[in-house]
Amino acid sequence: MLQSMRIVGGCQLKGEIEISGAKNLALPALVASLLTEEKITYKNVPNLTDIKSLLDLLEYIGLTINQIDQHTFELSTKGVKSTEAPYDFVRKMRASILVLGPLAARFKEATVSLPGGCAIGVRGVDLHIRALEMMGAEVSIENGYIKARAQNGLTGCDITFPTTTVTGTENILMAAVLAKGTTRLINAAMEPEVEAFCELLNNMGAKITGAGTSIITIEGVNKLHGTEFEIIPDRIEAGTYAIAAAVTNGEVLLKNCRYEHLTSFFETLSSAGVMCEEKNDGVLVYQKDSEIHPVDIQTAPYPGFPTDLQAQYTVLMALCNGTASITENIFENRFMHISELQRMGANISIHGKTAMVTGVEKLTGAQVMATDLRASVSLVIAGLIADGETIVNRLYHLDRGYENIEEKLNNCGANLERFAV
Ligand code: EPZ
Repeated sequence: MLQSMRIVGGCQLKGEIEISGAKNLALPALVASLLTEEKITYKNVPNLTDIKSLLDLLEYIGLTINQIDQHTFELSTKGVKSTEAPYDFVRKMRASILVLGPLAARFKEATVSLPGGCAIGVRGVDLHIRALEMMGAEVSIENGYIKARAQNGLTGCDITFPTTTVTGTENILMAAVLAKGTTRLINAAMEPEVEAFCELLNNMGAKITGAGTSIITIEGVNKLHGTEFEIIPDRIEAGTYAIAAAVTNGEVLLKNCRYEHLTSFFETLSSAGVMCEEKNDGVLVYQKDSEIHPVDIQTAPYPGFPTDLQAQYTVLMALCNGTASITENIFENRFMHISELQRMGANISIHGKTAMVTGVEKLTGAQVMATDLRASVSLVIAGLIADGETIVNRLYHLDRGYENIEEKLNNCGANLERFAV
C-alpha cells in the first residue's frame, strides 16, 4: 500500500529529538552474527524497513533471530540452511552484499546476487570482489550472481582500495577476521560506523588495530564468540534534524547525538549562521544569525562533508542570502531532489557534479516525488518551511532510514500527516 505525507509549512521546530541507532552500523553489525555460532545481543537497533529486509535475508540463510523488544535482538548462527542471498532480497536492500565476506570466511562459499544499480548511481561492488580474490577466493559472475568459493579458507594479505568504500571495508573486515595470517586494509573507510563495527568484531574476539584510520590491520583468528553490543546514534539522522531546526529558525536538542561524529558538518553549519552547541546529552541546534549565509561544500569520505547530508544541506542553501556551490563527489546521480525543490521555487542550476544554489525568499508547497532515501527527507524539510501544503509521494523511501519521523517532528511543532494513496 503506497503512502504519502502531507506537510503544512510554516512551523518553527522547538524541543528535543531522540536520535535512533545508526542504520549504517546496524546493517553490518547484524550480518557479523554469521561469523560465530554463539549468540550476539544487539541493543538500540533502529526500527527501519532496511533492518527488517536484512533480518528477512538472515533468517532465509538460517540464522536464529529472537526479538526481545522493538530495539533489541539476539542473533546466532549454529549453521546455515543456505549460503545464498537471492536477487529478491538483494534488490530491495543493496547492503545485503555484506553477507558475501562472512559466508566465504566461515562457510567457505557464498552465492550473492549482484545488487545492480540504484537511483543514486552505479554503486559497483567490484572492489569487494577483487579484495576477496586477493585473499584466495575463486569468484565468478554467473546469471547476475557472484559465486565465491574458498575451499581452503581465506588468506590474509595487503589490500589497497583505489576508492574508499564503506561496505567494501566492512565486507573485507569480516572476511579477514577468520582468515589465515594478517590482512592490512589500506585506504580503508574511517566512518564512525566502521570504527564501531571494528569494536564489535574485537568484542567477538577478533584482533583488529587501526580502526578509524585509513590503515586497518587484522590478525586472523580461528573462532569468534558471542557478545553484547549497542548501536551508536545515527549521525546522518542527527544531521538531518539539525538542518530541519535551522531552516525553521527553531531550537532543537538532538538527544544522544555525538558532536565528534559530525565535526566538519557542524562547522559548516556554524559558518552558515547555525549554532551547534555540544551538550552533555547531545547537540543543541539553533539559528544564531538572522540570515543563512552561503557556504560552499564538497562531499567526501569521512571526516569530510557526508554525502548522505548533501540533499538536506541543499534545502538550507536554497534559503541563504547569496549563492553556494554544492559538489557531489561520491555518487554520480545524487541530485534528483533538485528538480523537486525547483518545483517548490528553489533557484538551483546543475553543472556536472556541482549544483549552484541561489537563495530565495521562500519556497512554496507542491506535490513532490521521493526518489531515494536522503532526497525524500530533503523534500520533507523543504515542506516544513514552504508556504502552504506539500505532499511527498512514495514514502517507502523515507521509511528505509528514518524511524518515527512524523512523531519526532510533530512533537517539536511540525504538522506532518501520513495517508494511504
Ligand atoms: C555506504 O554505502 C552507505 N551505506 C551509504 O549510505 C553512503 O552514502 C556511502 O557508504 C558513502 O558514505 C551503508 O553503509 C549501508 P561506498 P556504500 O562503497 O558502502 C564506489 C544512505 O543514504 N564503489 O562507500 O555502498 C561507489 O559507486 C546510504 O544511508 C565502487 O565503484 O558506498 C561510490 O561511488 C546511501 N566499487 C563510492 O565508491 C565498489 O566495489 C563510495 O561507495 C564499491 C564502491
